[in-house]
Amino acid sequence: MNILAVGDIVGQIGVNYYSKTIKGLIEKYNIDFIVVNGENSERGSGINKEIFDNLIKNGADVITMGNHTWGKKDIFSFIDDEPRLIRPANYAENLVGKGSVLVTAKNGKKVGVINLIGRVDMGGSFDCPFVTAKKEITSLKDQGAEIIIIDFHAEATAEKKASAYYIKDEANIVFGTHTHVQTNDDTIYETGMGYITDIGMTGPVDSIIGLDVQIALKRFLTQIPERYQVAEGECFLDAVLFSLDDSNNKVIKIEKIRA
Ligand SMILES: [Fe+2]
Ligand SMILES: [Fe+2]
Repeated sequence: MNILAVGDIVGQIGVNYYSKTIKGLIEKYNIDFIVVNGENSERGSGINKEIFDNLIKNGADVITMGNHTWGKKDIFSFIDDEPRLIRPANYAENLVGKGSVLVTAKNGKKVGVINLIGRVDMGGSFDCPFVTAKKEITSLKDQGAEIIIIDFHAEATAEKKASAYYIKDEANIVFGTHTHVQTNDDTIYETGMGYITDIGMTGPVDSIIGLDVQIALKRFLTQIPERYQVAEGECFLDAVLFSLDDSNNKVIKIEKIRA
C-alpha cells in the first residue's frame, strides 16, 4: 500500500497547484491513500468549504489542520458534517470537530488518521499530545483500524522525534508538519513504523515558508506586526510517500518527493 502525506498547502495558489499536480503523482506512484495538511489553505490561515471540497475532489482522503485550524470562521459551518476534516485531538474536550477519523481506503484497508498539536512554541496550552495519541490509537483500533497515521503539527523537532519513540509500537506512520521545511531524517523503526520530522509545504517557491518575502522580512527587521500575505509565482509540492507491506502493514520504504 502506498500512502502519501502532502505538506501544508499555502493559499489558493497552493490549492490550485495541488489540484493540478496530484493526479500525476497518484498515477506515477500508484497511491492508495492521501493525507493533506490544509491549515494554511485559505489565504495562509485556515480553510473554507470550497477549498475542502476541492482537495477531497482531487484525491485527499483526510485533511488535517494545526495551529491555524480556526483561522477562517467558515470552518465552524461544516467541520461537524465532514469527518474527513480533522483538527488537533489534544484541543479542549467537547470542542467542535474531531481529532481523528477512521476511513476505508480504496484497497479496503481501514485507516485511522490522528491530528495532534505540539506544546513547545505553539502558542497555547494543549492537552498532552503523547497521552492523547495513545488514547486516540486505542479508540481507532477498537473501531477496527488496521493502520494508524499521525500528523503531529509542531514546531520543535525534539518534540516530534520524541513522539516517534513513544508511539512506534502502536502507529504505522508518524509525520510532522508546521515548519513548512522538509527534513532529511526519514526513519523506519524496527517495529515497522515510518517517521519523518517534517514533510514540508505546498505553495510558492519564492517565499518565506509560503508567505510574501517583503512582508515577512519587514516583520523580522522591524518587529512591527503586519498582516502576512501568501506569495505569488511558481509553486512546488512537498510530500512523503510511505510504502507498506500489505501482509503486515509495516512501512518498508519512505520516499521524499518534491513535485
Ligand atoms: Fe502550516
Ligand atoms: Fe502551523
